[in-house]
Amino acid sequence: MINLIDDDDIARALRSDVRTGLTAAPKWLPPKWFYDARGSALFEEITRLPEYYPTRTERAVLTEAAPAIARITEAKTLVELGSGSSEKTRLLLDAMLGRGTLGSFVPLDVSASALSAAVDSLGVSYPGLTVTGIVGDFARHLGHLPDGDNRVIAFLGGTIGNLTPADRATFLASVRQALRPGEWLLLGADLVKDPAVLVPAYDDAAGVTAAFNRNVLAVVNRELGADFDPPAFAHVALWNPEQEWIEMRLRAGTAQRVRIPGLDLTVEFAAGEELRTEISAKFRQAGLTAELAAAGFELSHWWTDPREWFGVVLAQAR
Ligand code: SAH
Ligand code: AVI
Repeated sequence: MINLIDDDDIARALRSDVRTGLTAAPKWLPPKWFYDARGSALFEEITRLPEYYPTRTERAVLTEAAPAIARITEAKTLVELGSGSSEKTRLLLDAMLGRGTLGSFVPLDVSASALSAAVDSLGVSYPGLTVTGIVGDFARHLGHLPDGDNRVIAFLGGTIGNLTPADRATFLASVRQALRPGEWLLLGADLVKDPAVLVPAYDDAAGVTAAFNRNVLAVVNRELGADFDPPAFAHVALWNPEQEWIEMRLRAGTAQRVRIPGLDLTVEFAAGEELRTEISAKFRQAGLTAELAAAGFELSHWWTDPREWFGVVLAQAR
């Protein structure tokens, strides 16, 4: 594994994000801090919940599309950003290895625990494949991706939706910059649908998403010595129809003061005050195609499931 983030780097970035987000009005935190070992394990649990349709829907779409993706791209190197367990990616690896083109797989994730478990497990399943895990930040480290011919960068799971529209534009432009003309981006995007389906996916009956959401407070407590009381914050998931995104928030039940010694900062929460921890934008084909075009990509193929709940897009760098 290659580590592009040392401990000092992580601590600096967390301090900066927590100071910026918790001194802003309204308060917010970036979602990448969910994913310590416990957060990554909770996310895997979320993917198996009955309400959380994205993972199983994307898997169904990829099962159909993988042979075509392998044929069209003739990928020699597959890079995966925010790879997590790389579980669905096995469908692509199987199809690309089946065509005999693929030699190398490069998963990149900010979560060292999720990445090392994935790399170990892939090594056992695919002994002939070169697997190089990169612990890195997809918003900062795309300049460090390995060179190669016929590269495909996969960004699955709908994680593109966790970026703000401005960060998304910057991110897509940096993916384009990392590729040569003719190379590929394979993007999984969750689609706009009935809020009666969307909201429960982010507010499940078993409370796993609530635990995932509160876990960011445990991360800040551990890393910065803060004294957040996670149970004192209620999990909130709501659909924002103007922005077409789900927002996850943590709502303070009572007025409280949180000390963050690592930042020499005290933060006050009013009763009922909310801290935004994640957006999860949902897409439409036309909007996403336009965003890809603005970043220098041409849409090659669009696959979806019969209910049109999740889209998988293959786009080629112009
Ligand atoms: N692609 C997998 C996992 C999605 S969960 C799937 O489809 O199931 C989102 C993943 O992105 C997590 O593994 C998390 O650690 C990673 N991640 C979040 N922000 C990141 C960032 N800025 N850079 C790199 N990885 C990030
Ligand atoms: C990783 N990402 C696409 C997930 C999502 O659906 O936005 C993270 C998540 N948040 C709550 N549940 C799952």
